[in-house]
Amino acid sequence: MNTRTLQRAIEAIPTSDGAGVKLRRSLGQTAWARLDPFLMLDHFSTENPDDYIAGFPAHPHRGFETVTYMLDGHLRHEDHLGHTGDLKSGGVQWMTAGRGIVHSEMPQQEQGRMRGFQLWINLPAKEKMKPAGYRDIQADEIPVATLPGGGRVKVIAGTLVQDGRATPGPIQGLSTDPLYFDVELPAGATFAHAVPAGYHAFVYPFEGSLEIGPEGSRRLLKTHSAGVLSDGDSVELTGGPDGSRVILLAGRPLLEPIVQYGPFVMNTREEIEQAIRDYQSGALTAH
Ligand code: FE2
Repeated sequence: MNTRTLQRAIEAIPTSDGAGVKLRRSLGQTAWARLDPFLMLDHFSTENPDDYIAGFPAHPHRGFETVTYMLDGHLRHEDHLGHTGDLKSGGVQWMTAGRGIVHSEMPQQEQGRMRGFQLWINLPAKEKMKPAGYRDIQADEIPVATLPGGGRVKVIAGTLVQDGRATPGPIQGLSTDPLYFDVELPAGATFAHAVPAGYHAFVYPFEGSLEIGPEGSRRLLKTHSAGVLSDGDSVELTGGPDGSRVILLAGRPLLEPIVQYGPFVMNTREEIEQAIRDYQSGALTAH
């Protein structure tokens, strides 16, 4: 076993998006802060309605997937195709923008806590223009496994294997073969899991700090930082002094050129110019 170590930490920076939703951006804060196939990770966490109430009014996407994991709160999603969905605490919306979507993501609460993540995952060139699609996953469809050393794992994508027992998550079989776990660890408890060599992997502690790597050479990662892991065939995560709650992501890199213009992510400049023209003419949503 070659256990992955902490290679680089990308500290989240405060920013805002949509109509003024306050969030923390780690991956994707610059073009150099991506981790193929992961383009961006936004974390929103606030009790103040002024930070979220304006939401994300109608906006387009093309060429990738957006994955929204709601920890606390209620967002209503509507798109130009008439698809609507309610994203409630503990639920996930896995949206494949493909050739184009125009949608809004609006809070359905006027007070209380709003907390969660939006992750952008790239699509391979051959899938960038496929029709848009959704998976709306409710909290009770996400399996939760208890860890023998304390703690638990929610399996959103990929399969958890503990002592030869497999717990598959609801998202399987995508080209990037993503693994998406929400891991809670008491102080000092360790979670070890296989991750295929060659896949890119990172962790993001959103409660408490996290220790990464094998015993004897662990490195501490602060809360609200994306920790990019070295290559290897397994990960070993240990709860920090106050315990940890983290998301662990891994995926098969696409190794293709990335040209991004806001919510359009393609392979060439020409394709971006086409996306802008299609959005302006209405062709982006003419399906
Ligand atoms: Fe969006």
